[in-house]
Amino acid sequence: ALVTTTEMFKKAYDGGYAIGAFNVNNMEIVQGITEAARDLEAPLILQVSKGARAYANHTYLVKLVEAAVIECPNIPIALHLDHGPDFETCKSCIDGGFTSVMIDASSKPFAENIEITKKVVEYAHDHGVVVEAELGALAGIEDDVKVSAEESHYTHPEEVQEFVEKTGCDSLAIAIGTSHGAYKFTAAQCTRNEKGELVPPPLRFDILDEVVKRLPGFPIVLHGSSSVPQEFVRMVNEFGGKMPDAVGIPEEQLRKAARSAVCKINIDSDLRLAMTGTIRKFMAEHPDKFDPREYLKPARAAIKELVSHKIVDVLGCDHKA
Ligand code: G3H
Ligand code: 13P
Ligand code: ZN
Repeated sequence: ALVTTTEMFKKAYDGGYAIGAFNVNNMEIVQGITEAARDLEAPLILQVSKGARAYANHTYLVKLVEAAVIECPNIPIALHLDHGPDFETCKSCIDGGFTSVMIDASSKPFAENIEITKKVVEYAHDHGVVVEAELGALAGIEDDVKVSAEESHYTHPEEVQEFVEKTGCDSLAIAIGTSHGAYKFTAAQCTRNEKGELVPPPLRFDILDEVVKRLPGFPIVLHGSSSVPQEFVRMVNEFGGKMPDAVGIPEEQLRKAARSAVCKINIDSDLRLAMTGTIRKFMAEHPDKFDPREYLKPARAAIKELVSHKIVDVLGCDHKA
């Protein structure tokens, strides 16, 4: 059924696991993700960015998700707006069938973030919709916003309690060292292991602990949580792509986060890599083929396999539906 995240988060918090929030942009992505969740009986969040709405159109995305809800009667699915930039976008999604919205005013001053978030919460709660807000600034690119490493900053734990009390938000995204996109860290920020691969700096679990102390029982969200699987980076590079030094968050770090107060883990870049790597390989190996179904089919299967792996080996939310 199409649900809010309230019940999902409560169970995830108490059960020491996290729900995967996967970005969707077209039918094959929706199908790959939901087939994995359905087979593994995993609760699921499908999220739509401003860019996704601009690309695929609000109605198409809502109807694709509604189709998935019908095809997957055994699991709860939430439809969430990712990085809502303003009240109007949030309102449009609340009025248009979403069960959850994020208002991302994290780049605004603290008082302004509170003011905007509170306004969204009031409208959302009046309509049975839940709200994710954000404190702190992740590095990386999302939609048209690019935050440089210098401009990014960790969440200040001393702000979280006042923020949640004043806004009434239902979950909080925090910055503890994750980052958006496929290039999360520069080589200079990393060390190298014996194989010569980049090893990123660990997440700031000390900051997470400080947040949890001030917000016991409150669901925390991690954005920018793709692991950038090197098998797909190699596949992209082997078949004509160029993604040097793409690096993500090690899965062990995410497993640790999933066991904690983190109830929602956002993954988009890994889906893009799986899809693009698979299509590049198919195109290179079958230069004669031109039926889109022939390359979208293995791409969809790659997404299903990736999401299955995340559900079982990283999030721990299999058989929690
Ligand atoms: O955080 C951003 C998500 O990966 C969505 O990306 O804005 O390019 O759709 P997008
Ligand atoms: P990634 O770029 O790490 O997949 O993060 C996605 C995200 O945070 C969507 O909001
Ligand atoms: Zn994000």
